[in-house]
Amino acid sequence: MNISRNFFLFLSENKLLNHAAKKWGLRLGASKVVAGTTIESAMKTIAGLNEAGLACTVDRLGEFVTDKQEALEAGQYCINTLHAIHEWKVDCHLSLKLTQLGLDIDKNLCMNNMRSIVQTANQYDIYVNIDMEDYSRYQTTLDILFALRKEFDNVGTVIQSYLYRANEDIDHLQGVPLRLVKGAYKESADVAMQEKADIDKNFLHLIKKHLSHGSYTAIATHDHEIIEQVKAFVHENQIAYHSFEFQMLYGFRHDLQQQLANEGYRVCSYVPFGNDWYGYFMRRLAERPQNIKLAVKSMLSN
Ligand code: FDA
Repeated sequence: MNISRNFFLFLSENKLLNHAAKKWGLRLGASKVVAGTTIESAMKTIAGLNEAGLACTVDRLGEFVTDKQEALEAGQYCINTLHAIHEWKVDCHLSLKLTQLGLDIDKNLCMNNMRSIVQTANQYDIYVNIDMEDYSRYQTTLDILFALRKEFDNVGTVIQSYLYRANEDIDHLQGVPLRLVKGAYKESADVAMQEKADIDKNFLHLIKKHLSHGSYTAIATHDHEIIEQVKAFVHENQIAYHSFEFQMLYGFRHDLQQQLANEGYRVCSYVPFGNDWYGYFMRRLAERPQNIKLAVKSMLSN
């Protein structure tokens, strides 16, 4: 792991800066990768992406909430977002983070919040994806997912290929729609692979495994080499196009997203919005040094 990645991951967890950034509005170039701060601005962006043939998942940014009232408000905001998806008739599902909904305060509070959200989504036939956060919340996230899936089938989660246990966990998640990713957090070598080559290899292995199980698979990556290998695998194994999708973040590799959609693949763009953009944006800077140049350029032009 290089120094700049460590530095930006460290910044992403800084609570003071996170708090301050909520008052700044979208800065440092964040407006290029965050679809505004309101539900309306997000819906307009999503409608435009749908018109271009891209499906979407929308995330009202927020994480690491420690205040009960804030967690309840975040839950209500998710429900309002579901109403908006329904009213705007957009091709879009919901992504969320459990620490925004009270996971760090009280597991039951979080579970009740989630139940209301998934139930509302179910009435509208909208799928809800639980984003996976850092390893300290991993098992609780899976526990909540399994509890919700006893009542609803419109909910799934994310598995990170850097985790050693991902390979075993995916066997228990057969039939559950999953987003597969490499993993965005700084994890210790006790639980996660540290070498990019190992993570990439496991990522491809997990993708092939979940697809071969016949389970819906969202392949979330900007890595064109992985995407090419997935394309070859689905063709060789005659895997139906409706059983998987490629996912990329809004504002990243738009040409590649469009190209895949034009080739007939289902492509889903992850559209974040809201004023709690800081942690999300810092993780994007950590992932790719080129994104830092974008931020510096934007700072200088302000
Ligand atoms: P990676 O950063 O490994 O890059 C591989 C190669 O791809 C690069 O060397 C370059 O050639 C090319 N490339 C990458 N980005 C490019 C760009 N912008 N332009 C041009 N070329 C580029 N993580 C997590 O822990 N929990 C989660 O819930 C999620 N959710 C999620 C949703 C979606 C839709 C995505 C796309 C990602 C996530 N992630 C995530 C983040 C994920 O774990 C990972 O950190 C990032 O996607 C970065 O890894 P990549 O696979 O995209 O490529």
